[in-house]
Amino acid sequence: MAQNTAFFPSNFLWGGATAANQLEGAWNLDGKGESVDDHYTGGNVDTPRRITPILEKDAFYPNHEAIDFYHHYKEDIALFAEMGFSVFRMSIAWPRIFPNGDDAEPNEAGLQFYDDVFDELKKYGIEPLVTISHYENPYALTEKYGGWKNRKLIDFYIRYAGTIFNRYKEKVKYWLTFNEINCLTMPFGAYLGGGMILTPEDNPEQMRFQALHNQFVASAKAVQLGHTISPHFKIGCMLNYMVAYAKTCNPTDELITQRFDQIRNLLAGDVQVRGRYPGYAKRYFADHNIKLTISEADEQALKDGCVDFYSFSYYMSSCMGQQEKDSFKNSDDLMIGIPNPYLKTSEWGWQTDPQGLRWLLNHLYDRYQIPLMVVENGLGARDKVDSDGSVQDDYRIDYLKQHIEQMREAVGDGVDLMGYTTWAPIDLVSAGTGEMAKRYGFIYVDKNDDGTGSLKRSRKESFYWYKKVIASNGADLSNN
Ligand code: BG6
Repeated sequence: MAQNTAFFPSNFLWGGATAANQLEGAWNLDGKGESVDDHYTGGNVDTPRRITPILEKDAFYPNHEAIDFYHHYKEDIALFAEMGFSVFRMSIAWPRIFPNGDDAEPNEAGLQFYDDVFDELKKYGIEPLVTISHYENPYALTEKYGGWKNRKLIDFYIRYAGTIFNRYKEKVKYWLTFNEINCLTMPFGAYLGGGMILTPEDNPEQMRFQALHNQFVASAKAVQLGHTISPHFKIGCMLNYMVAYAKTCNPTDELITQRFDQIRNLLAGDVQVRGRYPGYAKRYFADHNIKLTISEADEQALKDGCVDFYSFSYYMSSCMGQQEKDSFKNSDDLMIGIPNPYLKTSEWGWQTDPQGLRWLLNHLYDRYQIPLMVVENGLGARDKVDSDGSVQDDYRIDYLKQHIEQMREAVGDGVDLMGYTTWAPIDLVSAGTGEMAKRYGFIYVDKNDDGTGSLKRSRKESFYWYKKVIASNGADLSNN
């Protein structure tokens, strides 16, 4: 296929993406309540993380300290500024603002912390992109209400969203309602995304789709509310997209792949961009005996709360078809399907596919015709610190370079792409496995899986590379 000479638009947003629970630490400081992630132990590629309803004295909870951004944010933001970031994606920890989720009044110390962070970003001209809820539901909402299967959470979420919209309306313009809202279509999303501890007797799929519906309504109401609070707000949806190819040209494999793409990937965007459930979803619910409670008021809310832009995380692709016996077996269930023999696989079983990103950007823009943003993309890898303290992470540079090239191609295809935030600009705790060893950053953090380490920050080789990429607005991707 011919390469084009497209360039990124001059106002393209370049930066990195993070989540409060994976970097802040300070899990119980200054009035913060416990989040679902505070009850999630560490794990690794072979050992899954464990949910502990009661905190265990001998268990290790990696995000309790994480990389202590809470006390290092000035240093970290200065490093982001040095790379030339124009945007920084971060989340607000809901239990830092409403410690139990259902409190009548917010926690002032929590609100003040984010004021300080936004002021620091402003000092360097960095635009915050704020995820309202990123895998950090207040744990009390799990204990008391059973998580998002309960409609009451819609009101608690709106109280929280309204509080932060009003507080930060002069400081934040770009918002995302829920991180990877479609994680609720997958088993792992029940706890991290939905705050639900489900047993097989609960009919988990029914519960997850009901929780997803409740989040759709909460998101739509937040979009509506946000637009009344500030006409300048741009509020987007955020999904995890797993591009899927049919394993063979057997039409049955193609249909299996299409249904996977519809339910796992497209459904959430269809509801949040178009404001209604698509026909294929109704068919899927009927076929799977999923009966959702959806009121007329909900349907109206979905119509009235369509998002301004569409954002997504993209890490890998997969193949789908009838050959179940070849399926991946991983410690997390983000990676599902059948291995693709044309792609390389990371140690964590994720298959790297830069061209899939171009395909996806075209697929989404053809469908929605609204601005798109890639808000997570990156390579989790083990880094080695050399004796002089440097980290030569050419593998990370290669991964990002190839994806940026494909984004540029997509811009040449006519896609309206607003920006790109890599996951993650600084090493932080892995959401899937709870490890530090699965590193993504341009900035190395001296912190180990057992919790030891000085927390010292240092620049990797990729730090200097990304700085050059940003300075050239994506024109210079060379690694020398
Ligand atoms: C996305 C999440 O799914 O992937 C992030 O939004 C997460 O929270 C990222 O960290 C990478 O996944 P992992 O499991 O390698 O941390």
